[in-house]
Amino acid sequence: MTSMNEKPGSPPHVAALIVAAGKGLRVGGPLPKQYREIDGESVLQRTLKAFSQHPEIQQVLPVIGAEDLPLYNEYVGALDGVDTPATGGNTRQQSVRNGLETLAKAGQVPDIVLVHDGARPFISPELIERVVEACLQGAAGVIPATPVTDTIKLVNPETETIVKTLDRAALRAVQTPQAFQFDLLLNAHRTLAEESMTDDAALLEAMNITVVTVAGDAENMKITHSQDLEQQDSSPPIRLPRVGNGFDVHRFEAGDHVMLCGIKIPHNKSLAGHSDADVGLHALTDAILGALGQGDIGDHFPPTDPKWAGASSDRFLAHAASLVPEKGGQLVHVDVTLICERPKIGKYRAAMKARVAEILSLDESCVSVKATTTEGLGFTGRREGIAAQATATVVI
Ligand code: CTP
Ligand code: MG
Repeated sequence: MTSMNEKPGSPPHVAALIVAAGKGLRVGGPLPKQYREIDGESVLQRTLKAFSQHPEIQQVLPVIGAEDLPLYNEYVGALDGVDTPATGGNTRQQSVRNGLETLAKAGQVPDIVLVHDGARPFISPELIERVVEACLQGAAGVIPATPVTDTIKLVNPETETIVKTLDRAALRAVQTPQAFQFDLLLNAHRTLAEESMTDDAALLEAMNITVVTVAGDAENMKITHSQDLEQQDSSPPIRLPRVGNGFDVHRFEAGDHVMLCGIKIPHNKSLAGHSDADVGLHALTDAILGALGQGDIGDHFPPTDPKWAGASSDRFLAHAASLVPEKGGQLVHVDVTLICERPKIGKYRAAMKARVAEILSLDESCVSVKATTTEGLGFTGRREGIAAQATATVVI
């Protein structure tokens, strides 16, 4: 098929001008919206690739802010089929004009130019094809348009009172890419350089040139506000592990059993303490509080408070564990080392592990209980008491 536009013997040259020289003030943040990333790829990179990889587009020219080249190099970089960026102006219209003038000076002046917002990265190949085809068929200007679903009223902006209700059937919301015969658009921009128009089609309209519409695409939204970006990013928030440690010691006194990691173990002495003196669970409770940065066991259960006299230490541990989800975290692993010569821990280890897993609602594979002696050295070696140390890993 030969289009009206095609010069005999040479296929039409179709260029895409991607304007990205705005500051993205409404989105805010330190980085203009076109350089922000969606699932690890910048908005502008996505937009440029949609055009450079399209079979009907021969040339792609980005237009960027005068000071944005370092950002462009960092967040877009060299892309196959994309020209070195041109420099934009203070308004979108000036940015388009600069891009058109750059194209006009290039080796092969385009027959057709598409003007597209860099901030519309969800442009589909089908929509690009629709506007290009309509232009190749001879339309002076082609814009994507979608029906309006809200009722639109004309108001008096001074009094904010309704002037009239517009006929919705005759209203369209318009998007980019807008496609034009290159010479017509360049001429319109040169002629109306002093005017201020909100899109390129308006320049042709002002020159009484007919612009046609093709079906737009609801997906082809322009990123305008910060939630437009946040809603797009499907990558889960980054969670980092935090490891807390805890250490505790209790002295022996007269008695007939010790509590260690929630298990009652017969012994010829007991551990002295305000509560049940379960040195393993105390170290572990401190490890969890440490991972959360929530102080220590004494802050939460003061030894001066008679309420905790003789208390079973599983309550302390369960309380620390309950703070983890409250702080937005997840407990993933705990490890306890008991340090003593006697009692021998080996035959109670499995029961301790099961009990700790139960208190913490963790799978047993995420719980470790170990024991060591100190080779007869120090207070544990002299059997004066028992020490315990623990770590807890929380992702948050
Ligand atoms: N644009 C441009 N040159 C300008 C202003 C805007 O090239 N002087 C581009 C933007 O980069 C964007 C498109 O025109 O791709 C549509 O503009 P808009 O959504 O208004 O973007 P910003 O002007 O960057 O955003 P804001 O108005 O919130 O500051
Ligand atoms: Mg703007």
